[in-house]
Amino acid sequence: MTKSELTDAYPTDLPAWQALEEHYRDDMRSSRLRDLFVNNRDRFNRFSLEAGDLFLDYSKNLINNKTHKLLVRLANEAGVPQAIGSMFAGDPINVTEQRPVLHVALRAEISDEIAHDVPGVEDVWNTLERMTAFVNSIHSGERRGITGRRLKQIINIGIGGSDLGAVMASRALKHYWQPGMNFYSVSNVDGTQLADLMECIDPEETLFVVCSKTFTTQETMTNAKAAREWLSGTLGESAVSNHFAAVSTDQEAMDHFGINPDCRFEFWDWIGGRFSIWSSVGLSLALVVGMDRFQEMLTGARRIDRHLRTAPLDSNMPVLLAMIGIWYNNFFGAETHAILPYDNRLDRFPAFLQQLQMESSGKGVRKDGQPVACKTGAIVWGEAGSNGQHAFYQLLHQGTRFIPVDFILPTKSSGAIQEQHDMAIANCLAQGEALMDGFMPEGTGRHRALPGNRPSNLVIFDRLTPAVLGQLIALYEHKVFVEGVIWGINSFDQFGVELGKRLANQLLPAVIGDERYGGDNPSTQAVLESVIAAKQRSET
Ligand code: F6P
Repeated sequence: MTKSELTDAYPTDLPAWQALEEHYRDDMRSSRLRDLFVNNRDRFNRFSLEAGDLFLDYSKNLINNKTHKLLVRLANEAGVPQAIGSMFAGDPINVTEQRPVLHVALRAEISDEIAHDVPGVEDVWNTLERMTAFVNSIHSGERRGITGRRLKQIINIGIGGSDLGAVMASRALKHYWQPGMNFYSVSNVDGTQLADLMECIDPEETLFVVCSKTFTTQETMTNAKAAREWLSGTLGESAVSNHFAAVSTDQEAMDHFGINPDCRFEFWDWIGGRFSIWSSVGLSLALVVGMDRFQEMLTGARRIDRHLRTAPLDSNMPVLLAMIGIWYNNFFGAETHAILPYDNRLDRFPAFLQQLQMESSGKGVRKDGQPVACKTGAIVWGEAGSNGQHAFYQLLHQGTRFIPVDFILPTKSSGAIQEQHDMAIANCLAQGEALMDGFMPEGTGRHRALPGNRPSNLVIFDRLTPAVLGQLIALYEHKVFVEGVIWGINSFDQFGVELGKRLANQLLPAVIGDERYGGDNPSTQAVLESVIAAKQRSET
C-alpha cells in the first residue's frame, strides 16, 4: 500500500487499528491500573512529558508500552505527520469549504515558515498592530466615549466562537485585568443578558464589541441592534461611532451597521470561529488584559505549535492526548470525556472545549463523503474543581459508565491565597487517586465500595499566566485536529448547525403571530398553538 492510499484508508482498515483491537481484547480490556504500575516501576516517567510550560501525566491510563507503540503507529499510518505539514503549509484541508485552516498563522511570527502566500496571512501582523493601537488608545484615554468619559465597560456581543473564547480567556486571566476595566458578554438571543447589563452599566463608559465572522448571526445581530438602540436612546445616534467596535470578515456589513472605520477589525475565512480567539475576535479580551498579555497568549500557543511540528509522535503531547482519546472512544467504547480544571478561573474552559471539540468532531461523514466506519467525537463536559465533586463525581466514582477525565491543575494560585489553592491541589490529586485505586471497605457492603480503575490525564503547570493559557488552548486545538485526521473527517466545518438556524427563521413569524405555521411537523404545530394561546392569555 502506498502512503496516500494509507492516509485515505478507513482507520478501521489500518493494520495498527486492527492490532489495537486485538491488543484491547487480549491484553487491556480487563487490565488494572494498579497492576500496570506494579509491572512497570518506571511508569510515571515513561508516561509523562513536558511541552512548553505544560506537564502531562498520562500514567493513570489503561495503556502499556505496547498500547503506546500501537497508538503512535496508528497516528503514522493515518498520516498525522503529513496532515500537520499540510495545515501549516496552508493546504485547503477544510475540504468541504475549500479553505486552508490557519489559526496557527495568527500566533506565528512574521519570520516563521507559514503559508504567506494565502491571501490575508500577510495582513495578520498589520491587524495586530491596529489592535494594539486601538487598545492602547482606550487605556491611555486618548479614545473616549462621546461625553469625554473613559471607556471601561467592555461588552462583547457574539456567540459560539465569537463569544466563548473571549469569555473563557477573560475569566481565566482575571488576575491580569487592567485596573478599572471590566468585561461582560452578551450572547443568547432571548435578550436577558443585555437587559440585566443595561440596569447596571453606564452607557457613557461602555464600549460594545460586536463580534461575528459572518455579521449575519441572528443572536449577535439582534443583540447588537438592541444595544445600539439603548445607546443611541440615551446618548444620541452620533454616540455609535465612539461606543461601538466590530470584528468580522465582512467589511461592508460592519460599514452598514455604522461602525467607525477606525474601530473595524478584520479576520479571514481561513479561521474557524472556534479557533478564532487569536485573531481580532480576541479584541474584547485584549481590551481588558492589555495587548502585551494578549501577545503573551499568542506566544504561548506558538510554543505548542512548534512542539506539534517538531516533537516525535511518541512524545508529542497533543498527538498523545488525541490518541488516548481515540483509545477510549473507539476501543473502550467511552461515550463522554470530562474536563475538570482545579482553578475556578478556568470555569468556562469546559464550555469552550465543548464547542471546540463537539463542533469539530461531531461528524458522521468522512472527508471523502462516505459514512464514517467508527464512532467519532466524544461528548465533552465538565466543571471547575470542587464544584464538580459536590455535584457529579458520585457518578464518576460509582456509576456504571466509563468516563475518562482530564484534570487541569496550576500549582500556584493566580491572585488568591495559596493555602486555599493548596486545598484545590490536594482535592485534584485525591480525585485522580480515588478514580484509579477505588476503595473496598471491609464488611460494610457494596454500597460504599468504589471499583476504581478509572483513567485520568493530569495537565499540570506552574501558574495560569496568559502564556500558559495560550499553550493550554493550543494543546486541545491540536488534539481535536489529530483526532479528526485519524477518523478521516473534516474538523473545520459545521453544517450540522444550519438546519436549526433556518427553521428558527421560518418559525419566527408564526411565533410572533404574523403568519401561520408553514411547516408540517405535527408536534411543532401543536406546541406553537399553545404558545400563541399562552401569549394571548398573558396579553389580556
Ligand atoms: O452556529 C455555529 C456557528 O457558526 C459557530 O461555528 C460560530 O462560532 C458561531 O456560529 C458564530 O458565528 P459568527 O461568528 O459568524 O457570528
